[in-house]
Amino acid sequence: MKPDEPFTLEVLQSEATLSRYDNHIVRTLSSMKGQYADQAAYDAMLAEQDTVLYEVYEVRRPEVPGELLHGLSVVHPGKVGDEYFMTKGHFHTVLETAEVYYCLRGRGVMVMETPEGDWAIEELHPGRVLYVPPRWAHRSVNTSLDEPLLTFFVYPGNSGHDYGTIEQQGFRKLVLCREDQTVYIDNPNWSPPGKGHAD
Ligand code: F6R
Ligand code: ZN
Repeated sequence: MKPDEPFTLEVLQSEATLSRYDNHIVRTLSSMKGQYADQAAYDAMLAEQDTVLYEVYEVRRPEVPGELLHGLSVVHPGKVGDEYFMTKGHFHTVLETAEVYYCLRGRGVMVMETPEGDWAIEELHPGRVLYVPPRWAHRSVNTSLDEPLLTFFVYPGNSGHDYGTIEQQGFRKLVLCREDQTVYIDNPNWSPPGKGHAD
């Protein structure tokens, strides 16, 4: 079989040429049911409009171990109640697969945790590379209320995505804006791994 040819990509393309990516995923408020702590604020916001929270532009590659899936993640600025706009977050289905994020624009944090309940939060700013080791679930949060958080990500082709675990148990830490400050608090609804949902 003929090997693939090397290829290049202008990661920060203009709006007009973002269409060069193979796949564009748009996640709106309605896809985040039960993920924001302030349910009343969520319901009120959704009643107004199904706001776009984040977008992912993917370069499509075969989902096999030797490949590297890569693309651009854009988390828009905004809050649901006190909680910043964020991605759903996930474990990789193949837990032993890592991921690299390179922050291109904006300000944010990556909230991470292991199946054992260890947690970590790392700040993202332009020029910073974050290594998410194998086993760590990850969620990007935009802590700027003015500009989008842009990151470039790379991860193994066979990783897969497990969204269900986070949908059920949530992340242990929430990232909120309180009196113009970013604060990390315990998630009152977090249920320890394997224990099902708190309510
Ligand atoms: C892939 C990865 C990123 C995220 C993207 C959106 O493994 O971590 O490409 O997919 O930041 O977040 P999720 O997938 O959690 O909706
Ligand atoms: Zn991932």
